[in-house]
Amino acid sequence: MSVSQDDLKLAAAQVALGHVEHGMKLGIGTGSTAEAFIGLLAEKVGQGFQVTGVPTSERTARLCLDLGIPLATLDEAPRLDLTIDGADEIDPGLNLIKGGGGALLREKIVAHASKQFVVIADESKLVASLGAFPLPIEVNAFGLEATRLAISEVYAQLGLEGELRLRVRDGVPFETDGGHYILDASFGHISDPKAVSELLHGIPGVVEHGMFIGMAAMAIVAGTDSVRTLEA
Ligand code: A5P
Repeated sequence: MSVSQDDLKLAAAQVALGHVEHGMKLGIGTGSTAEAFIGLLAEKVGQGFQVTGVPTSERTARLCLDLGIPLATLDEAPRLDLTIDGADEIDPGLNLIKGGGGALLREKIVAHASKQFVVIADESKLVASLGAFPLPIEVNAFGLEATRLAISEVYAQLGLEGELRLRVRDGVPFETDGGHYILDASFGHISDPKAVSELLHGIPGVVEHGMFIGMAAMAIVAGTDSVRTLEA
């Protein structure tokens, strides 16, 4: 019987669940892999396991509430024991691209507030270097064109050519939970993630970008033969 990508996501989520301890304050990620984890966590909560979840998006919050997982805001629980989240790309140093689902800002804030940040994924997310997946850059709606130009200039400064595309959903600009827009930057392989990050952070209209550099302590990656735990 062939193993589907959903089976792999579930397998990674299952191993991640073993890292969640009774009573933990837990950051809960966004996306299909995180949702596989949420389903398993909800089953455990239904059996009396206690956690306080801090969701990384409104979508995740709704799902957790529907499934009976108790939630707090990050203001109510500003220090978290662990965050479990998915990723769009994972490099050998466990640097990530995230934000395919548009939740990168809250995901990064929640991961940063956590003692440990664990990524779960199927093996299709492993890459030799970041950048095949377009980098989501969350920008303020005010001054969109000026910010877009400034981002293009950053890439030109680095000698990179590519495309910056405003994310659109149902014919209108996609709005994040924070009311911002997303520019998806397709400039290929990112040889120096830190340099790109610093330059992007220097642009006032850039709210945050989807590179998570040096944040993940562990990646739980499911392949067809086994689930591997990679540590930074
Ligand atoms: C959400 O904004 C993202 O960061 C997700 O974690 C990422 O896109 C992975 O999503 P999937 O688990 O659906 O691939």
